[in-house]
Amino acid sequence: MACSSAFGQDAVRFLPDKKLWVLDTQRSSYVFGVNERNQLQHVYWGQKLWRDADLAAVHSREEWASFDGIASTTPGEYAGWGSNMYTEPCLKVTLADGNRDLVLGYVSQELHGDTLQVVTKDIQYDLFATIFYRVYPEAGVIEKHAVIENKTSQPITLESAQAGTWYVPPGEGYRLSYLTGRWAGETQLIQEDIHPGVKLLESRRGTTSHQTNPWFAIDAPDGNGPRADQEHGRVWFGALGWSGSWKFTVEQTPHRQVRVTGGYNTFDFAYPLQPGERLETPPFYGGFSDGGFGEASRLLHHFTREFILPTAKARPVLYNSWEATEFNVDEPGQKALAEKAARIGVERFVMDDGWFGARNTDHAGLGDWFVNPKKFPNGLQPLIQYVNGLGMDFGIWVEPEMVNPDSDLYRKHPDWAMNFPGRPRTEARNQLILNMARDDVKEYTFGWLDKLVSENRIAFLKWDMNRNFSEPGWPEAGPANEKKIWVKYTSNVYEIIDRLRAKHPKLEIESCSGGGGRVDLGIMKRTDEVWTSDNTEAYDRLRIQEGFSYAYPAQVMMAWVTDAPNYNGRTTPLKFRFLVAMMGSLGIGNNLNKWSGEDFALATKMIAYYKTIRNTVQRGQLYRLFSPREGDLTANQYVSKDGKQAVLFAFLRSQQYGRLAPTIRWRGLEEHAVYRVKALDPGKLVEKLDTVSGAYLQNHGLDLSLVGDYDSTSVLLERLESH
Ligand code: DGJ
Repeated sequence: MACSSAFGQDAVRFLPDKKLWVLDTQRSSYVFGVNERNQLQHVYWGQKLWRDADLAAVHSREEWASFDGIASTTPGEYAGWGSNMYTEPCLKVTLADGNRDLVLGYVSQELHGDTLQVVTKDIQYDLFATIFYRVYPEAGVIEKHAVIENKTSQPITLESAQAGTWYVPPGEGYRLSYLTGRWAGETQLIQEDIHPGVKLLESRRGTTSHQTNPWFAIDAPDGNGPRADQEHGRVWFGALGWSGSWKFTVEQTPHRQVRVTGGYNTFDFAYPLQPGERLETPPFYGGFSDGGFGEASRLLHHFTREFILPTAKARPVLYNSWEATEFNVDEPGQKALAEKAARIGVERFVMDDGWFGARNTDHAGLGDWFVNPKKFPNGLQPLIQYVNGLGMDFGIWVEPEMVNPDSDLYRKHPDWAMNFPGRPRTEARNQLILNMARDDVKEYTFGWLDKLVSENRIAFLKWDMNRNFSEPGWPEAGPANEKKIWVKYTSNVYEIIDRLRAKHPKLEIESCSGGGGRVDLGIMKRTDEVWTSDNTEAYDRLRIQEGFSYAYPAQVMMAWVTDAPNYNGRTTPLKFRFLVAMMGSLGIGNNLNKWSGEDFALATKMIAYYKTIRNTVQRGQLYRLFSPREGDLTANQYVSKDGKQAVLFAFLRSQQYGRLAPTIRWRGLEEHAVYRVKALDPGKLVEKLDTVSGAYLQNHGLDLSLVGDYDSTSVLLERLESH
């Protein structure tokens, strides 16, 4: 059964006479084939090609002197390291007999609808690499991953297992975009020219990391035009579905070929496969847009919402107690906050850290997942019932992968912490990591989480992870297998979450790792939202959220309104803080006990407004109009899927010389439609507009009277009619 793409052709086609595969999305084509040496060779990825007759059978590239042989000049689709290959391979192995040469040849294929499997095998040994492709025609995305299987009779050690290599058309002058940062400063967008050589984007930390996020984009200079911007130009993008150590090797070869290879990080990597064993790589998703970075993001957002996330529904407005109370949680205190949160329209109340064991500071208690009897003498039930009675569901914080040395769990099972025997165990935030690669630790963890969720009406878990790996030993596995920890840790965490969700289908989960330390398409397959950053200071958030939006949709981007001053000692108006948070999934993290009547009134108004636009923000189309990286004005706009609603958010950092903020030209509207204008602050519209055409807003634009420092507003449009 084949799925049709544009031009009435199947999304995945094999052209037998040319030994080529064509993978079509609605906007792009991806072509590779089998060359005269029986090896898979990449042919093309970019704008849509519609005529199969244009495509020729593929031949290896020529040798460039004796120094660059065919293995380096030819774009291997999934190349093993062997022969005279000097570019980044997808697979590198050592066999027990000492052989380290791997040359993969084509064996067979299976094509089912939008999926394709291509089996390759070493020219001598029964070492198989099967490459899986899936095309998401409407999302414009292609997924690839590989399964490596040892069918020989000797052990094989994998030293690199990558999901695949993406190629852009040969040429120079490309630019790389990526997201980097650190704790409390995540997802900063960097754009830099690609030059000959290698740029490594990676995490060696055992988890996705705040430092670099597994997403990239490459835009083209185009002989015929400028580089890409928000609306124009060719952009190739990719994201890896993996929450452990990962790497992207971005190369420009001496032969003008830019390529990106991604998968498990090869640093300290060794994955032995006994005869009959296999390893699956993470999925690597890639897409192409000729509508600039704006369309590239919208494609990836759509793909993530429709094909990655477990839930399609928009997120509820939540309250979280962390910034208000830190570890000082107890039943009366939480009830007092819950009552106030319900008053302003919150739908989910989440109790954060501090409710269990001897957890009064971050020095003790992690691992002891029983309710602290002093803080909650009657267990969690009274609080949960109270919260439910106020019309909210209840969520709770957990950090399942960690243990404080000062805990009953550690005293009982010191061997459960990741360690090299006899070596120091480096603490971070006074905690060690439980070795989730061990199946006994995995079972124990699943057991207490399952019990917690089964015995209490818990709708939501905030799953935190507050440090990265150190001393990643796994003595029980034995020296030959210890390094499997880099893969097994994460796959066991995935298994726990998957089993928990299967058993509790209504349970929702947030992935948090000290803010945005575990944000990737692997964790998003099994969680509903992510914590963007512990930095909730609204002005800093504009850039963190902008970078985040290049890769991930607003639906998963948790954004809280919190008290000011906050990071940087900065104070911004409560309205500004609300509007920044309303560009994602809205949460409230303030100490509501300190709010004035005015604060409550403003919050009630803003939350009510948010509820009218949240579907558009979370599940609509994003247009980045003014970047916080480029000037004092930041403006973002969202259009609902059906085009009936559009909403603008605008923020002014500082006014100078009494100047008016730049005119904002809207995007994504229907030029011939008329919209009713509902401004959050009608006084901020320079021209009083009750109704307006799409053409006027997109071409003439809208002037807003934003004044002073940290001014902000929002304008809502409702489509009236189309002509
Ligand atoms: C780090 C998280 O990012 C915070 O939101 C909070 O949950 C703390 N951990 C609690 O320890």
